[in-house]
Amino acid sequence: MDGRDLVRSVKAVGSGGAAQGLRTVRAAWRRRRADATGLPERGGERARVPGSVLDVEPGPGGGVVRFTRSELRITVAANGAVFWGWDGAAPEPSYALAGRGPEADPRAALEPDKDGGWRIVAERVTVAVSRHGAVEVRTPGGVTLRRDLPPRWWEPADGGPGRWMQRSEVAADARFFGLGGRASGPRLRDGTYRLWNTDPGHAFGPGDDPLYLTMPVQMVVADAATHLAFHDTSWDGTVTLREGEEGAGSGHDRAGTSELRMDGGPLRCWVMVGTPARVLHTWAALTGAPALPPSWALGHQHARWGFGSEQEVRRIVRGYRERGLPLGAVHLDIDHYDGHRVFTVDRENFPKLPALAEELRRDGIRLVSIIDPAVEAEPGNTVHDSGVAEDTFVRDAAGRLVEGVVWPGESLHPDFTDARVRKWWGGLYAERLAQGFAGFWHDMNEPTSFTAFGENTLPRSARHALEGRGGDHREAHNVYALCMARAAYEGLRELAPHERPFLFSRSGWAGLQRYGGTWSGDVATGWPGLRASLSLVVGLGLCGVPYSGPDVGGFDGSPSPELYLRWFQLGAYLPLFRTHASLRAGRREPWEFGEDVLGHARVALVERRRLLPYFVTLAHLARRTGAPYVRPVWWGAPEDRALRDCEDAFLLGDCLLVAPVLDPGRERRTVQLPRGRWYDTATEEVFEGPAQIVVDAPLSRVPVLVRAGAVLPVRGDGGGLELEVWAPEPGRTGFGVVVPDAGDGWNEPDIERFTAHWDEQRVVVEREGRDGGEGPDESPYPVRIRGLSAH
Ligand code: NOJ
Repeated sequence: MDGRDLVRSVKAVGSGGAAQGLRTVRAAWRRRRADATGLPERGGERARVPGSVLDVEPGPGGGVVRFTRSELRITVAANGAVFWGWDGAAPEPSYALAGRGPEADPRAALEPDKDGGWRIVAERVTVAVSRHGAVEVRTPGGVTLRRDLPPRWWEPADGGPGRWMQRSEVAADARFFGLGGRASGPRLRDGTYRLWNTDPGHAFGPGDDPLYLTMPVQMVVADAATHLAFHDTSWDGTVTLREGEEGAGSGHDRAGTSELRMDGGPLRCWVMVGTPARVLHTWAALTGAPALPPSWALGHQHARWGFGSEQEVRRIVRGYRERGLPLGAVHLDIDHYDGHRVFTVDRENFPKLPALAEELRRDGIRLVSIIDPAVEAEPGNTVHDSGVAEDTFVRDAAGRLVEGVVWPGESLHPDFTDARVRKWWGGLYAERLAQGFAGFWHDMNEPTSFTAFGENTLPRSARHALEGRGGDHREAHNVYALCMARAAYEGLRELAPHERPFLFSRSGWAGLQRYGGTWSGDVATGWPGLRASLSLVVGLGLCGVPYSGPDVGGFDGSPSPELYLRWFQLGAYLPLFRTHASLRAGRREPWEFGEDVLGHARVALVERRRLLPYFVTLAHLARRTGAPYVRPVWWGAPEDRALRDCEDAFLLGDCLLVAPVLDPGRERRTVQLPRGRWYDTATEEVFEGPAQIVVDAPLSRVPVLVRAGAVLPVRGDGGGLELEVWAPEPGRTGFGVVVPDAGDGWNEPDIERFTAHWDEQRVVVEREGRDGGEGPDESPYPVRIRGLSAH
């Protein structure tokens, strides 16, 4: 036990009482013992590299290239995605892929290249394999985007999975993004980032890494093109990134590098090339379309650890109503459980939950339940008893149940990597639905188990089914939450087939979007935490998980009124807009920070409600195209280097540019504008991009700019859909889409396309003809034209 461990154990004792502290000490020893006997011993290792090319075996979309000490399978898919895998690694089995992976491109074939290498020339990429096993991905124009150098393995002399390392080079001007949820981004600076889902154990800031949701997905943005590289292996590892340097025309550029070191798992990778939009479209085709949230989940949501009773929930809801503050959902944390036991209710303080849920629902407010994976290890607890009867809990290498410690005390963890267990777990949500809950908030699923020392998760030697292949926690850890989300999603699809499941999860992995979203976890209250909030949402969106948001106001402590307000104003433009805080933190209701803040928060809430049809449309577009709601400002112009380095603003869909205030005392700020004409939505002032502009950012609002020609679906005063159209530049045609969604259910609405153009002195808005070939018609929705004063 080192000093930090000691502090942690004292903290654990402090937060859960002496008994819980003692449990964490015992659990830590148990974990240490389990791993001492349950993991293969680290003996001598042998290093290996692929060697030189021997021959090739052509196959669909590419083939296999054999080297003296390994072989490389390489395929270009019909959608342009490149797959390569060493040592016979194939795309499957994979937790990330949705379905069987894309078809091979029938026109792509291996052909001899210079210097004894091989290459595949396809429509969207060229892939070259060197004589020693370097894999180079190039644009059709021949510019190298990524060069993966021959890997190196270290294998136990007596067999078993080995470690490996691979270095890759990217363009000197390239910027790295992604790797899941990172607090210090979105642009990932030089440094080492760990790939191991981790509860930091305290409220985190930009310096904390890793966090709850990591994934080996890099989005690399360079002048020549954007690419996404996904190393499909769930083992523990690190990525060391180093941006390149340009030699100012001297011809001596230094490439950017990424060095991946993994403790095991297959060495295989997918690479997708194109514009950011195309890359994420391909990524969503590979790993699955983002789940569509019900529209209430795009409204404001309020949570707190420690509401404590039904009366308190009613008081809060009344507080919102009486002050004219729109609210979509209230979240109940673990304090509403009976003794912190998942799938139970504290009947004393929450005696009539279904009636409360019904009452709230009549006012358009849904109830969301926290769900922890850990089940109290106590006979008599029904979930425990049914789990034991069905043998659903994780066991160690000797076949004993693995006991960890979470909120209820000694706890067992379901093995979600087993389809049988997922089915059992999914069925448990029936109890939640009967209590009236409409949405689910998965927590503690890295998985976290409190510990006095060592890692706060399950033993690495813990056994997992891994879909029948069998393996241990070293491989299952990072996909644990993903599989839990799958269990819930599939269970809810059966239990409530007419409703869209709504769930978001603290931890996850590549493909989480198929089942739901995520949130920041315990972001520290403070200005750095506010910045980290935006970094997480942008970075996750670039990894294909578009629905997320922070704990508005921060998880711990008490924000100043100004910080609370700025966080609130940012949250109002993020997909998950939720206030939440810890048991011991100060209040987070908008009326707790004085009249001024209340007034400004109301403006933000009302604006969010007005923009709801736009958010709903963005949710549909995310599902159909993989494009996140929240995009970096370089989304449409990745070649604009000033934009690439801009981290304090974002695009919300195609139309809006949101410039939140991330520093104290700021009432004006600079904004890096992409090309084209933009309006300040508050003043209608016109700006021409690309440019750096200065705009007002009074406490009452954050700057939001809108693209000229934007057609924005909004909620009118009467509650119906309206179009807000911003005058296009003269001679140009504006454009926008609307997805008129029913709010829930599975009806597939058509995407409606609108154009806006000047006709003499008037802006005319038309709905484009349907595919049947009809001509344009008038907008079926009321139209409001804005930005006319500038013309
Ligand atoms: C940790 C979560 O991150 C937090 O949001 C929650 O309030 C606590 N667990 C208690 O359930």
